[in-house]
Amino acid sequence: MHYTARAHTNIALLKYWGKVDEALITPTTTSISLTLDEFYTDTTVWFDKSLQSDQLILDGETISGSAAQKVSRFLDVVREMADINDKAYVVSNNHVPTAAGLASSASAFAALAGAASKAAGLNLSVTELSRLARHGSGSATRSIFGGFAKWVPGDDRTSFATPIFEKVDWPIQLLTVVINDQPKKIGSRLGMQHAKNTAPFYDMWVRLANSQVNDMILAIQQHDIVKLGELAEANALQMHAMNTTSVPSFNYLTDKSWQVIMIAQELREQGIPVYATMDAGPNVKLISRPEDTFIIKKELANIVTSSQIIIASPGPGIKVTSGDKI
Ligand code: ADP
Ligand code: DP6
Ligand code: CO
Repeated sequence: MHYTARAHTNIALLKYWGKVDEALITPTTTSISLTLDEFYTDTTVWFDKSLQSDQLILDGETISGSAAQKVSRFLDVVREMADINDKAYVVSNNHVPTAAGLASSASAFAALAGAASKAAGLNLSVTELSRLARHGSGSATRSIFGGFAKWVPGDDRTSFATPIFEKVDWPIQLLTVVINDQPKKIGSRLGMQHAKNTAPFYDMWVRLANSQVNDMILAIQQHDIVKLGELAEANALQMHAMNTTSVPSFNYLTDKSWQVIMIAQELREQGIPVYATMDAGPNVKLISRPEDTFIIKKELANIVTSSQIIIASPGPGIKVTSGDKI
């Protein structure tokens, strides 16, 4: 049986940046995210007795190497749960740049969890799917859900995401400035490992990040874009500070990223609530209100072209269908 799943990416408002257990992908901190409508992955999976090895076809190309290995290891988890041995075809299409810091691993492994579990004959709850997706990529844990979600630390059984509000009925958008859509040099996995192992203030980051959780939930509950934005921007800059203070130092942000961050600051001085957040890549997402899009774009016009700006709104949770098409 073929199953196809669509899962959307999510942007972390409070970031996950470090694992307690590298194999189980359990996080050092609680993270909070918003799932986005504009960026997603469609993945179709079917198991085939005649296959010698798993096959990954990503955006029309057969993939080998570490990306294929990651998928195969993930399928091993599914096979063990379903008690089957067959290898699988995985045909995936990213509607998001791959490995550019726009969370392709989140939508990818959430979609793979949905499609592969169904194709293997499992009927998992959303909690079980979230836990399974975590085995592929930490951020995928949250992409099972639409809207705002929270992922907590814990052990293999207790670390999964839960929705905060799946329906977002107030004006918030992530105006995404695509500065570079090419794969980053240091993947998130390696980056966070290096930061955890060498950044001198890493323990402080853990304490700080966990202390921001209740305030972020309150800001979400109160539809308070100022409080939400202030916390998200501070948390993102703290995460990037971990990277620049790692030994040896590394950095995902470019001059252009900083120019966009400065524009958010300038707009705030004019009383417009615009806040920057960046994942593991140079691309900047501006937390903002739809009504301010025009003025934000006007300010950005000196730095990027309009084709580099994508407006992302709150997106839905995972959807799985039988057959090839969503
Ligand atoms: P990103 O910021 O895009 O999440 P990561 O470094 O976290 O970057 O993850 C990128 C990796 O995720 C890719 O190198 C690949 O291993 C995996 N990946 C991305 N998209 C897919 C997909 N559709 N199917 C399988 N694996 C994927
Ligand atoms: C900066 O989930 O991509 O986007 O678990 O190793 O696959 P792995 O890493 P990944 O890391 C995401 C890091 C981040 C912050 C976040 O999404 O919470
Ligand atoms: Co990722």
